[in-house]
Amino acid sequence: MLQLWQCCESILLFVMSIGPVRGMKDLYGVSFEMYRYIVQKSIEVGQKHGYMMMSTPILEHTSVFQRAIGDDTDVVSKEMYSFLDRGGDSLTLRPEGTAGIIRAIVSEGMTQNMPLKIMYYGEMFRYDRPQKGRFRQFHQIGFEHVGYKTPYSDALMISVASEILQKCGIFDFKICINTLGDDESRAEYTKAIVKFFSRYEDQLSEESKRRLIKNPLRILDSKDPKDQEICFMAPMISDYLSKESGIYFDQVCSILHDCGIKYEMDKLLVRGLDYYSHTAFEIKSTIDDKNSIGGGGRYDKLMQMFDGPDVSGVGFAFGVERIMELLSFNNQPLQKVAIIPFSDNENKVAFDILQLLYSYDIPAEFLVLGNISKKMKIANRLLCNMAIIIGENEVKNKVASVKFMNKEDQDQKMIPFDDLVSFLKHNMAQ
Ligand code: HAM
Repeated sequence: MLQLWQCCESILLFVMSIGPVRGMKDLYGVSFEMYRYIVQKSIEVGQKHGYMMMSTPILEHTSVFQRAIGDDTDVVSKEMYSFLDRGGDSLTLRPEGTAGIIRAIVSEGMTQNMPLKIMYYGEMFRYDRPQKGRFRQFHQIGFEHVGYKTPYSDALMISVASEILQKCGIFDFKICINTLGDDESRAEYTKAIVKFFSRYEDQLSEESKRRLIKNPLRILDSKDPKDQEICFMAPMISDYLSKESGIYFDQVCSILHDCGIKYEMDKLLVRGLDYYSHTAFEIKSTIDDKNSIGGGGRYDKLMQMFDGPDVSGVGFAFGVERIMELLSFNNQPLQKVAIIPFSDNENKVAFDILQLLYSYDIPAEFLVLGNISKKMKIANRLLCNMAIIIGENEVKNKVASVKFMNKEDQDQKMIPFDDLVSFLKHNMAQ
């Protein structure tokens, strides 16, 4: 009886644990293709702007994030996946990429070679309540430009972000910017908000009461509805900027203007991480602006927190899943071709076409099993955007019958074998 019970219990446990962890997703099929596409476009833009790729470990010492992001932020105080390893060290699954990159720049001795432009991508982990667009494991693509402090770098960083979205075919977005000023500005501002929030102390949430003493700026991140009502009336940092900070921010805005980059001023934007100073920005969809697609800004003191030199940096990161939600694969230019012989008699000619396309680096699938409708279904499943069908007539006339799979234009086009490569290249992603 006991054995039977144990057996049932282990079956139950197996069934319960068979899915992924809550808030984490398996990425495959269309979603993986989208992920790859976004990363690829970001790398292309990054390379053009002189960024080099870097990969840092997913696990860091917990102190890396505590130091950089700040103990009182939501990310560090509530959302980190931290644990003691077998040696008793406190480690954390990275909740973001910047801290690890700056830690690595210092510990790898790269500070000798500054300025540095670094890009990275990969999994991030935050223990937040899963909901639309908010996951416990998600992916970021990030860019950091360290060693320079000029308003040009801030504006260029924003322009890289904007360029990536446009390369992905996304145009319905807005760039919201603000400045958090320098130390002097923030010290003045902190005094002002302490005075302000003290008047409402008895109405604040317990957490905000605690932050009022430890890190008053973070009250502005509160998700508590009553706190948020009070925050709306709070003073704004723009009224406490030092002269230098004001000039710096004006320069950033005027460079953005000169570059033709549209932005909106958001004086309530403070970002949820402690390391920012001066420019802060977030990019949001104009269709649904609840969650930001990406965010970033300048950080003056981060390198010093890791015992590095006193140099400033600026960066941003996109949430890949958030871009994926906006991406419509139907509108994308050609990514992959399915080569479909009508019957086994056309296999040889179709195979020759496959080799020809491969020699021009055109991604293609060769589908020989099943009847024509099965092959078309497989082509769809394999995310082919175009099918090249080769039947008896096509072989005789040396033309390929080409069909777009996803576009509204479902008509077949007859393309001579000799023109096939240039036709496909013309329809390929830029
Ligand atoms: P962040 O605003 O915390 O900034 O995150 C950047 C982006 O990651 C967000 O705009 C969002 O798209 C995505 N993201 C954040 N949390 C989640 C989540 N739980 N689920 C899905 N997506 C999420 C940073 O992480 C900074 N390191 C950016 C930066 C780089 N600043 C300077 N350099």
